[in-house]
Amino acid sequence: CGIVGYIGKRDVAPLLLEGLQRLEYRGYDSAGVAVCGKSGLKTVKAKGRVRELDAKLPKRFAGSVGIAHTRWATHGAPNDVNAHPHLDSEGKVAVVHNGIIDNASELRAKLTADGVEFASETDSEVLAHLVGRSEAETLEEKVRHALRSIEGTYGIAVLHADFPDRIVVARNGSPVVLGIGEKEMFVSSDVAALVSHTRQVVTLDDGEMATIKADDYRTYTTEGSRTSASPTTVEWEAESYDMGGHDTYMHKEISEQADAVDRVLRGRIDDRFSTVRLGGLNLDAREARAVRRVKILGCGTSYHAGLIGAGLIESLARVPADSEPASEFRYRNPVVDPDTLYIAVSQSGETYDVLAAVQELKRKGARVLGVVNVVGSAIARETDGGVYVHAGPEVCVVSTKCFTNTVVAFALLALHLGRTRDLSVADGKRIIEGLRRLPAQISEILEREDEIERLAHEYADARSMMFIGRVRGYPVALEASLKLKEISYIHAEAYPASELKHGPLALIEPAMPTVAVVPDDDLLEKNRAALEEIKARSGRILAVAHREQEKADHTIVVPRNEVELDPILMGIPLQLLAYHTALALGRDIDKPRNLAKSVTVE
Ligand code: G6P
Repeated sequence: CGIVGYIGKRDVAPLLLEGLQRLEYRGYDSAGVAVCGKSGLKTVKAKGRVRELDAKLPKRFAGSVGIAHTRWATHGAPNDVNAHPHLDSEGKVAVVHNGIIDNASELRAKLTADGVEFASETDSEVLAHLVGRSEAETLEEKVRHALRSIEGTYGIAVLHADFPDRIVVARNGSPVVLGIGEKEMFVSSDVAALVSHTRQVVTLDDGEMATIKADDYRTYTTEGSRTSASPTTVEWEAESYDMGGHDTYMHKEISEQADAVDRVLRGRIDDRFSTVRLGGLNLDAREARAVRRVKILGCGTSYHAGLIGAGLIESLARVPADSEPASEFRYRNPVVDPDTLYIAVSQSGETYDVLAAVQELKRKGARVLGVVNVVGSAIARETDGGVYVHAGPEVCVVSTKCFTNTVVAFALLALHLGRTRDLSVADGKRIIEGLRRLPAQISEILEREDEIERLAHEYADARSMMFIGRVRGYPVALEASLKLKEISYIHAEAYPASELKHGPLALIEPAMPTVAVVPDDDLLEKNRAALEEIKARSGRILAVAHREQEKADHTIVVPRNEVELDPILMGIPLQLLAYHTALALGRDIDKPRNLAKSVTVE
């Protein structure tokens, strides 16, 4: 979901719509705006995309203060009434809300007993009624009042017809960022909606509120004491959030990977000692050596990046490491061990399940690092240190360049841990040289897009696809199958090649093609045997390998790197395969159905 707000001199509706468009990648089943003009508060809401809302806006929708929202349904179906902003009974208060109010049904029952009629099925509407019914004098007090009764997470923006000179916002578990302009102020849940107007931002902390007026802003705690909030400058230019001449964000982000990898490496390699410098880690050599085990936590693509990361840490540092979905971890009452280093992986730094796992770990006294893309995000702040992956803004719902950069960040971390232990200077040097070769090799793969596009057309008729790999190749298969599922809606399964004969071989037939990850490593012969098994069942095979595979119907040949780093390169053509398959099927690639870029609710 996304929030935008504006107060200043300009006509607010077009600004809000532009902001919403920039947030659509976060959720997009309905949208709405509320504007405060001379005749009081006006709202328009629409099911569907922001362009539906745009079409519904009356010609005259004047005002220079307003709030808006794009929604990704959690409570209540996506329709016009459930879209935000929500109003109180008198139509004076408008609220947009991200997050979940846990005690909404209780509050709803109470308010209904008091005669309040609810317009929607959402949990958020209670907030509008609570603010509307508060007898406090100021808007800030009214909001504070409302917040005192609710339990749950929120990022909110509140507009009140009686206080047209301000917007009041508050944050608890769901991001709120103020954009500081010249005699105008913006607010959003994401800097992406602000950067085309200002790069001066103030990010609220949990438990913080703010009042924004056209020429002034103030931040304070939910209890009312002032907090100091000096603006910081957003790292990325507004253009980085644009499509830059590509047809989709996904294509742009895939194409940017050589530069992105260059960025995650920049300034971090220490040739003198064949190691790396990771300033943000907050882990000295003694502490690094004391780590007995590494546990990586993430969701979706970040979990898969963590699987490759765990492999890198085990092989380079010889520390037992594994990766687990963050939500599974936190609900199984895990044994939290003081000698284990926990690493939370999240592109957005906001995914609720990951954040909650971090909080649970910290409560139990664990040391938690973050591998995060968004600087200053909740997970980056909550962890004890970490590595930023510097991939730049990623807008497409499915992750590509952040995945690649996250894996490279893990390679750096593994090298660092390795070089405080038994990884030799020579091996350190070998990995560093391999890392330096990556950007050019990525470009080499991307130049062969036409060939991959042709292959995508060959396989786009499949109803289901199998992805296989072994050891280092298995997480590559997992991630490639997820990518295909997410954007093409073709069913896909990923299995370790060694497990084929224990079950999934039963599925193999001409209508179920297999994508096989076949690096030239010590497992090559074993992988080839798996290809034979598939061929014997008349299965079609597309291999990603370092040389042509005889048993495969088609092979995408990728350049070789060091064996440890091969998974990074082997994943890249499979991103393009998923992309072109989805394109051939006419899918909405940047905004796949039912998915959102970051899931900030449970
Ligand atoms: C959502 C997205 C996935 C992403 C996952 C984790 O489910 O649709 O593409 O991998 O969240 O996101 P994160 O920002 O924590 O990496």
